[in-house]
Amino acid sequence: MANIPLNYQPEKLEREMKPFYIGASEADIQAMLKELGMSKLEDLYSHINPAHLFKGPIALPKPLQYQELVDHVNTLAQKNKPRPSFISDGLPNYKALDIVGDICSIRGLTTAYTPYQPERSQGTLQTLWIYQSLIGQLTGFEAVNASLYDRSTCLFEALLCAQRLVKNANTVLVSEAIYPGDLAVLDTQAKETTLKIERIPLDPKTGRTDIEALKKTLNSRSDIAGIAFPQINTLGNLEDVDALTDLAWEKNIKSIAMIDPMLLAAKALKPPVAFGKKGAHMLVAEGQHLALAANFGGPGLGIFAIRYNDEDKNSIRSTAGRYVGKALDSKGRECKALILSTREQHIRREKATSNICSNQSFISSLAGACMLARGDEGFTKSALTGMNGIRKIVKEVTKGAGVEVRFPQTPVWNEVTLKLPIKTTEFLKIAREKGFHAGVDVSTRFKALNENLLLLAVTDLQTDKDIQGLIELFHAQFGKIGSGSELIAVPTHYLRTDSPEIPKLASNDVVSYYQRLGSQNLSPDDGIYPLGSCTMKYNPYINDYAAGLPGITDLHPQAPFEDAQGNLELLWEIQEQFKAITGLPAVTTQPLAGAQGELVGLKMFQAYHRSRGEGDSRDIIIIPRSAHGTNPATATMAGYDTFTVDGVQHGIVLVDALPSGEMNLAQIKEVLDKNPGRIAGVMVTNPNTAGIFETNFASMAELVHQAGGLVYMDGANMNAVAGIVNLNAIGVDAVHNNLHKTWTIPHGGGGPGDAMVAVSERLKDFLPGVQIEKKGDGSFGVFTAAKSCGSFHRHWGNFAHKVRAYTYIKALGAEGVTKMSAVAVLSARYLYHKLAKSYPTLPDATVSAPRMHEFILTLSPETFKKIEAAGVMKAQAIARIGKLFLDFGFHAPTVAFPEQYGLMVEPTESFTKAELDQFAAVVENILKLVNTNPEVLQTVPHFTPIDRVDEVTANKNPILTEKITAKLPAILPDRVDAAKLRQSTSSDLCAMIVEAHKKEVK
Ligand SMILES: Cc1ncc(COP(=O)(O)O)c(C=O)c1O
Repeated sequence: MANIPLNYQPEKLEREMKPFYIGASEADIQAMLKELGMSKLEDLYSHINPAHLFKGPIALPKPLQYQELVDHVNTLAQKNKPRPSFISDGLPNYKALDIVGDICSIRGLTTAYTPYQPERSQGTLQTLWIYQSLIGQLTGFEAVNASLYDRSTCLFEALLCAQRLVKNANTVLVSEAIYPGDLAVLDTQAKETTLKIERIPLDPKTGRTDIEALKKTLNSRSDIAGIAFPQINTLGNLEDVDALTDLAWEKNIKSIAMIDPMLLAAKALKPPVAFGKKGAHMLVAEGQHLALAANFGGPGLGIFAIRYNDEDKNSIRSTAGRYVGKALDSKGRECKALILSTREQHIRREKATSNICSNQSFISSLAGACMLARGDEGFTKSALTGMNGIRKIVKEVTKGAGVEVRFPQTPVWNEVTLKLPIKTTEFLKIAREKGFHAGVDVSTRFKALNENLLLLAVTDLQTDKDIQGLIELFHAQFGKIGSGSELIAVPTHYLRTDSPEIPKLASNDVVSYYQRLGSQNLSPDDGIYPLGSCTMKYNPYINDYAAGLPGITDLHPQAPFEDAQGNLELLWEIQEQFKAITGLPAVTTQPLAGAQGELVGLKMFQAYHRSRGEGDSRDIIIIPRSAHGTNPATATMAGYDTFTVDGVQHGIVLVDALPSGEMNLAQIKEVLDKNPGRIAGVMVTNPNTAGIFETNFASMAELVHQAGGLVYMDGANMNAVAGIVNLNAIGVDAVHNNLHKTWTIPHGGGGPGDAMVAVSERLKDFLPGVQIEKKGDGSFGVFTAAKSCGSFHRHWGNFAHKVRAYTYIKALGAEGVTKMSAVAVLSARYLYHKLAKSYPTLPDATVSAPRMHEFILTLSPETFKKIEAAGVMKAQAIARIGKLFLDFGFHAPTVAFPEQYGLMVEPTESFTKAELDQFAAVVENILKLVNTNPEVLQTVPHFTPIDRVDEVTANKNPILTEKITAKLPAILPDRVDAAKLRQSTSSDLCAMIVEAHKKEVK
């Protein structure tokens, strides 16, 4: 079959055709090495024990050239066989709207970072605002976060929220009618924590949550914090959401409703705000299908909402996830900013409401755009098409001998469970041979009964021909006699009585609006994006092309494996790639981001210790004080509660860094010696967040192993060491690789991220989910690890992102991976070498310590004094200097992390020496300007669409939504275009900034 044509011209893209996407030419590399007094790239790693480095090239195949890569990904995609599909099982497939490709091509939205600098990120913030507001309109909820990973992890966060909100109650009741993939994630996450999950059984007569059993439990218990139930359940049945919600209110506990946003249309199902007498307390949902096809399971979109009104202003503060709020800038212009961050891991660390950092931001943005393109009209049409489709199918297929609706008295919408006269597996096999993916075998969801059950779902995706084909398949198999059964009418109290009033906009208008928003952000396409620890490198277009190929996008993750061989091969190969890159023997593809990778790691630690009878006794996790906030937040979420009794520490024990910037090994040893039998493990970032390689990592690992503990390496900074440092040789037991950092998947304005966790022999048997295996006949299948710690995703993670990372690694091969890391280090060290001449650096005593991928600048006491004398407090000085970068057309470095007075810079390997030199000049000029005119820091930034945002006021009284109408929120233009700023000479810019400041204070 022919390749799908490229939808871009690679030769016209400056960074796309460079070898290994490395910005520096060979001459650049030689010149930078020379400047550092080195002769070859290997010299950059001379301070690391050679025994810890890979000997020779890692085990990856040769790099593929551009055209070879295009051919290769097409061949893989064509090995998949999507067919007319009636599979949903919680991941429905709708017709993809024509705007999806266009919105996904807006690089300003896809490649930007989390909008922590609101003045330069109004684009992302506005898209998230629209998403929050539209989901608010659809569901009636006032506070919608933007966003969480997917439905199952979102539900877990909602359960934790209920536990926080209801005092002295640690149990939540979860209906067995929730999808099994979700239940598995809940059980895995709850293990070893104080949250207890109990099931509310299914009633075999109705195929719904057994309300009588629930009442009995509620009447006899006082430890229940909430109940979670679906609107449409795992058998396609509509639950009695009114009764369930009212019961929660009656008992003063929280009701958590699981809904499908596509079905809350006018004339379709009623929104959770109308459940029972007072509405549900919280809602969770999968939102992937608002925007995307099945994509073999991901990226998903975890929708979470909670009530936020005069009756309840505070519950929101116990929730997880990011919120965008309305704010004002210093001139009173309306704008948007991230708010309620004081609950988040980067501020509250082990006391955070969740460990989530990268979320599914871009999918929220995309979902908002798709909602606008659909409008009320489109929602209703899709919802009714599914409902009518299932009715038609039921009427016809029940003419077959022995084919029955299993729960004829229970209302359904667009899904139904049929009882078959033959084994469901057998029927599905026949259907596949005839060219259909004819639903899901749900026979085992009723363990007590021995029935052949098939769950069918219809949306707007199936054509009349598909439906007719399925009907004929049934008739051919089971005959056609009588008049068939009618599904009962859906009672009116299950239905929506109003309209959500989602405006419908022309596709072109939506696309051009979002393009304008994209241009308000910065992208690594434009130049250095110096956010330390975030690895803002170039994201190749070809990765997106591969992820968008038919066969890859349109296959349901529960399609028969025979028809998913291309995707399984890709997953198998990406496992192999990460084994080679890390030097470790096994990998899981499940984690959705770095923080979830951390959780996977710690849950494996717990499973390992449990298997050795030490589950309860090993309760200490050692973490360096400089660790990213996700590390302590993850440890807490995994169940390591931190407290001290009679001077004995439990949970997280923090250790300091030495003046050299490396961890204090003596202190770690002291903790190990003081707590025999109690060490569960350590979590250490390497290279660390100061950009310094932990040369004692292997010694530390040895000590921890001797103490019976395990070693987690936070691999967020793998861009410095991938393909060079052998993680097996330094004693790593588990490590995550953030695919949205080193492995070039775009950041999406905060997500979706993705991660691969690789593990040592010790943990191989405890891996979560399934492992992909290559069988003797060359085909691909799956198996579960012998003592698996459970599951963190209903399938294999954000699959489309695996495709991107895979494509990147295929382009690099062994040579490219090693070189990309080395040039990232070279670029950082070169820049550091230049800037350390004018800026003091942190940690204090480390000026000459070899930097890896990033470094931290600070200011001299004299400069701080000048800034204070100019009326800016020292505590604000660094953040304000960050804003000054925006005036020069660049994004700010990471400010005030991990050092309060630090500016952390990470250039990556994507930029040329000339770009590095230009950036160095800008950073130097910033310092000069601050020294000569510190007063400009009072009014920075000056050229972004808005002035400095008043985030304090925005947090005091959060405003989270507005009614979105066809007249979309206004977009304020840049005062000076960022590209123009970057092209201006520094002296011109400094003069402009001083002038702009004068004007403002006049
Ligand atoms: C050092 C470090 N660890 C962990 C994380 C969390 O990763 P993610 O955002 O993918 O969850 C980050 C993210 O910035 C990080 O920099």
